[in-house]
Amino acid sequence: MANFNSIKNNNIYKNLIGGQWLSSSTGNTIEISSPVDNSFLGKIQAVSQVEVDEIFSNSKKAFHTWRNTSLKERADILLKSAEILRENAETIAKLLAIEVSKDYQSSYNEVIRTVDFIKYTAEEGLRITGEVLNGGGAFIPNSKNKLALVTREPFGVVLSIAPFNYPINLSASKIAPALMGGNVVLFKPPTQGSLCSLHLVEVFRSAGLPDGVLNTVTGKGSEIGDYLVEHKDVDFINFTGSSPIGKRIAKKAGMVPMIMELGGKDAGIVLPDADLEKTAKSIATGAFAYSGQRCTAIKRVIVFNEVADKLVELVKIESEKLKVGNPFDEGVNVTPLIDNKSADFVQSLIDDAIEKGAKLILGNKRKANLIYPTIFDHVTEDMKVAWEEPFGPLLPFIRVNTIEEAIDMANRSEYGLQSAIFTRDVEKALALATKLEVGTVHINNKTQRGPDHFPFLGVKSSGIGVQGIKYSIEAMTKLKSVVVDLNKSISEL
Ligand code: NAP
Ligand code: G3H
Repeated sequence: MANFNSIKNNNIYKNLIGGQWLSSSTGNTIEISSPVDNSFLGKIQAVSQVEVDEIFSNSKKAFHTWRNTSLKERADILLKSAEILRENAETIAKLLAIEVSKDYQSSYNEVIRTVDFIKYTAEEGLRITGEVLNGGGAFIPNSKNKLALVTREPFGVVLSIAPFNYPINLSASKIAPALMGGNVVLFKPPTQGSLCSLHLVEVFRSAGLPDGVLNTVTGKGSEIGDYLVEHKDVDFINFTGSSPIGKRIAKKAGMVPMIMELGGKDAGIVLPDADLEKTAKSIATGAFAYSGQRCTAIKRVIVFNEVADKLVELVKIESEKLKVGNPFDEGVNVTPLIDNKSADFVQSLIDDAIEKGAKLILGNKRKANLIYPTIFDHVTEDMKVAWEEPFGPLLPFIRVNTIEEAIDMANRSEYGLQSAIFTRDVEKALALATKLEVGTVHINNKTQRGPDHFPFLGVKSSGIGVQGIKYSIEAMTKLKSVVVDLNKSISEL
């Protein structure tokens, strides 16, 4: 049974180190309050560099035992974790909703999605094996008698750093595949999102993970981030967050292998023959669900001039149907942003677009950190909103006249996460998909991460490496080849 009382004392949360929930000896803490109403939610430890050293060394110690634990035993612990998470779904979802200002239904769905993710990881991990290669006649005469035994091995200590926007799902999607691959995990949760992430950690602990296999380190990324990623004991980094921080980590960490899931500027590309009613529904929810704070949100629409007026009007109508409010309001879609700084940034993009002559279709309404869905038409290349990731409910429409213009506009972005193509002509969509510089193209649906066993990746400033259940386990294990030379001829036997 998860014991959520053990993870805190008087609302001061601790770190899981070597199987014990412990406070920092420095006594330094960070206050966490809700972005919804500023209410106090708790405090987390701000660990010191010396403590980071101790935590790494504890993780390293646990590695030897964990890597030698059978796949079946690892899978059983993950399956148990999934079961315990399911039992505590409502409690964790409530905390998630208030801590990162996500509507309750989406928060609950995130927890349940994570239950399924962990189960599938346990099952998939059992299927990942090595292979035997026969040199055969490929490179005669050298390879003729060679046999390679190719196995998968864990890296060691995986440093997992997660973002605020999916604190349960994007934390578990690092932790579970790393563990299944035989790694130990040092987990740095997002500061805003730590409280529910630490509940998730307690779920894994209570399922029977041996001491030290999953340790946590809380504290502001801006203060301890560099020290963590440059640490000599890091064997692999699995990071999800913004592109500037991802690039900083990649520079600092040097040769350490890593996966990076970073920012995006996903385009919805609407061709003249699209079903505009369906397209508009998909675009409105794709752009504004969780107030646009999804890496995969539709962050620009590239639309052919001949259908632009109609589409803009339909997206406006669909967006007006979305409910704006607080996470526990019934049926709400758009909630306050994670903090005022983020809302100020979105507002600065709105102001820039207005100043440069974009046509405001909807929104530009703000109450503190709550920004209402905002749509601009006739956005041009000189406007920041054409290129920058708002991570808020702001959608620009960019008009084009030819397919070449659409491809050029889509590909000139520094980002390359996903795109969506809306058309009734699937052959045309497939041809266009080959031209887009992104990790995934969706046809006739909004951009989105799931299903979680599909490959998920970004190119250019959107990331390095591939996630997705099987792909994540593969990425966090390394191949090792043992080559046998069968040099005896039959006559020597
Ligand atoms: P962020 O500010 O980059 O933070 C992400 C994580 O990095 C947090 O845990 C943060 O800790 C930590 N961090 C901050 N500075 C660090 C440093 N110098 N060294 C090491 N770690 C550091 O991103 P966010 O605001 O949480 O999330 C939003 C961004 O993530 C958006 O750009 C979004 O597109 C992207 N994202 C991408 C994906 C994807 O799959 N491609 C998924 C989700 C989100 P603190 O919380 O303590 O600052
Ligand atoms: O923020 C990034 C998440 O991976 C997006 O997931 O497309 O399922 O909302 P989603």
